[in-house]
Amino acid sequence: MLTSNSSSYSNRNSNCSSTSSSSGFSSSCVQVSRDVQQQLVLLRLQPDSSGLQFPEIWLRDNCQCSTCYMQQTRSRLPQGWNYLDPSVRLQQLSWCAERQSLQISWSDGHKSSFALSWLKERDFSPANRARYLRDCYRPEQRLWSGTEFQRIQREFLYDELLHNDEALLQWLHQLAVYGLALVKQAPLDSNVLRNLCNRVGFMRSTTYGDEWSVKAQPGASNYAYLAAPLPLHTDMPYFEYKPSITLLHTLQQSDSPGGWNLLSDAFHVADLLRQRYPGAFKVLSETPVDWADIGSEKNLRFHNIWRAPVINLDANGRYVRINLSIPQRDSHFSVPAEQVRPWYEAMALFMRLANEQACTFKTTPGDVLTFDNVRMVHGRTGYDDTEQNIRHIVGAFLDWDIAYSRWRVLKNDLGHYNK
Ligand code: OGA
Ligand code: ZN
Ligand code: ZN
Repeated sequence: MLTSNSSSYSNRNSNCSSTSSSSGFSSSCVQVSRDVQQQLVLLRLQPDSSGLQFPEIWLRDNCQCSTCYMQQTRSRLPQGWNYLDPSVRLQQLSWCAERQSLQISWSDGHKSSFALSWLKERDFSPANRARYLRDCYRPEQRLWSGTEFQRIQREFLYDELLHNDEALLQWLHQLAVYGLALVKQAPLDSNVLRNLCNRVGFMRSTTYGDEWSVKAQPGASNYAYLAAPLPLHTDMPYFEYKPSITLLHTLQQSDSPGGWNLLSDAFHVADLLRQRYPGAFKVLSETPVDWADIGSEKNLRFHNIWRAPVINLDANGRYVRINLSIPQRDSHFSVPAEQVRPWYEAMALFMRLANEQACTFKTTPGDVLTFDNVRMVHGRTGYDDTEQNIRHIVGAFLDWDIAYSRWRVLKNDLGHYNK
């Protein structure tokens, strides 16, 4: 928006020679103006459009000349920053129709030029920032209740994920948006999880190695390795850098009535808690809990602890992570004693809602259940193993940093940006 302090520059004032006519708003005619009060440069591509906006100091910082920016490393050169003078001011502004670029002279004597395509991508208008966050940063998550499971759930064929980039992108997209995706028809061999993870990037190893086997084992060192019901949980809440995508490959499924998967969108559960019991929501998002795993695995002794609330929020109140595990919640509870009872009361409400919102299904051999371990809580019903009836699941992890990176590269390569 132009203010009374704004000044306007058309390309007729340009000191860059222009071959095009300056009448109207043809693609080569961009109206450039300045909001002096807000220190913004404004670009109007069409007379009735709201226009593009750029803070002047940001333009100076992001000058694309070879003194300020290194094309080869795609990064800002640090020298300028050692002396950056925040009082630097824009002195002259013009539009070069021939090169379709914005030309600026600065009070420090520097000159910059910015291509229109580069500017459009980085426009500070609310609509463009929302587009960038949705299309490039991370897709918008859609939260769901257990009754919506059939509607949101999607299946992907293992072979297609290995050989078809479009399928790989759709799988990662589904995982990002809904937090859950089922891979079908994987062979019953030991390379499946590694192959899937390598298609994305690489596996995330943990104390339990690259891959771990979930089988009923008498004398097991981890609660999950019993045939007992495994209540809703996130995997490994006791790590600051918790593995963020879980993959569970069913090799053998129990014929007993048990062994069903339970899954609940804990961001949705947190939303319900926030609406219905705001006091409990506040307690669960503010009280740090000691999550712990102490033991040994293949000669590695470990003592893992991470302190964090069940519901983790960012500065804007958005969900960043859920932590939950009954067996892996330590009996150390490092909070003042008066915070303990309110926490249990809030937790009881959260668990009730999480169980009410859970969907249930039973995987079959060759299925790979994949889900967002930051957001979803999962579990299984108990089962009965006999010698002829054994349940065997293999698990592995990926991390969202790696998965989102692959999602962006695939979107770019497959031409999904700016559609
Ligand atoms: C686990 C787990 C699920 C299952 O081991 O952490 O969630 O179906 N297992 O056994
Ligand atoms: Zn420069
Ligand atoms: Zn688990």
